[in-house]
Amino acid sequence: MIVCVCNRVSDRDIVRHAHAGMGFDDIQLELGVATCCGACEDCAREIVAQCSASHPVAALHMQTACHASVGA
Ligand code: FES
Repeated sequence: MIVCVCNRVSDRDIVRHAHAGMGFDDIQLELGVATCCGACEDCAREIVAQCSASHPVAALHMQTACHASVGA
């Protein structure tokens, strides 16, 4: 599911990078998430935080919830 519509960054992209040990800033540089309108930033940060807390499944559910607000 797309989290960042501007840059076509998916939840899976963010989770994969977070699991590789990257923080939000690194992921932002790598993928370009939250570098345009910024509407996805809170959601993307929450996904990274959830992954950092070792709750990848929770992160996937969080992304689904965030996507609804981003798409509005
Ligand atoms: S939706 Fe991510 S920068 Fe616009």
